[in-house]
Amino acid sequence: MAARTTVVEAVCAVAARLEAAGVPAPTVDAALLARHVLDWSHTALVLRGGEPLPEDAAARLDELAARRTAREPLQLLLGTAGFRWVDLEVRPGVFVPRPETEVLAGEAVARLPADGVAVEPCTGSGAVACAVAQEVPGARVVATDVSPAAVDLARRNAGRLGVRVEVRLGDLLAPVAPELRGAVDVLVSNPPYLADAELATLEPEVRDHDPRAALVAGPTGHEVTDRLIAAAGAWLRAGGWLLLETADTRARATARRAAAAGLTDVAVLPDLTGRDRVVVARRG
Ligand SMILES: C[S@@+](CC[C@H](N)C(=O)[O-])C[C@H]1O[C@@H](n2cnc3c(N)ncnc32)[C@H](O)[C@@H]1O
Repeated sequence: MAARTTVVEAVCAVAARLEAAGVPAPTVDAALLARHVLDWSHTALVLRGGEPLPEDAAARLDELAARRTAREPLQLLLGTAGFRWVDLEVRPGVFVPRPETEVLAGEAVARLPADGVAVEPCTGSGAVACAVAQEVPGARVVATDVSPAAVDLARRNAGRLGVRVEVRLGDLLAPVAPELRGAVDVLVSNPPYLADAELATLEPEVRDHDPRAALVAGPTGHEVTDRLIAAAGAWLRAGGWLLLETADTRARATARRAAAAGLTDVAVLPDLTGRDRVVVARRG
């Protein structure tokens, strides 16, 4: 009787399938899918890789590998995404949080007083708001989204993590309590920032799985960031910060628009890959 495939052999076979399908990081994805079906830690995968792969795990791994070769996002297959120090639940129909947005959240944490107020329009899964609330537990954190599915997931993530985030359904700052006008220390957002025509150029994981309304702002891509820049003067306290994630191709122009709106200390910061990504600006 032939020996059963070991875990390591199965990971290598899945990695080869993913590579042939053009998946960008095939070995990492294959290892994470194997960990998921086995419910093992990273250490267990390393130490027990020579063991035979159980049949039920092999069948499940085969199914997930097929979905990944069809370019379903890894995080949706795993059901979770790590973001700074938290693990978030992710679901189809809600934008999957990205590592580059960890820079945006970190800038918010660095600028938020211990008992300050942070508002995050366009929260999606609640990634930024939950990370900020976890790292600055004494702050008041308010998050909004126009998508009921996103609001539901952000509330669920905040509840699971045990962090205090007020999640409200509605357009940008419209659902935020009026008493916070002029009292916000950090207005932070990763809004839709692509132009209509850019949608077709995206990787299949993004184009076919993230909601269009999470990606595309309108004909120029500046439509939502312009609205947030225009609102910043009314909602920020004097000295408070506006922090916006945007496309690398649009960051310098977004910074110029913030300066033209009268905001000060305008700068563009790079993401984890060195690309222009985050625009910071201050109400003078
Ligand atoms: C790029 S996703 C970012 C999600 C999350 N902040 C993150 O970084 O993972 C943009 C989010 O903005 C939401 N959105 C789009 N237009 C909005 C608006 N006018 N007001 C509030 N939320 C909006 C979308 O539903 C989506 O969840």
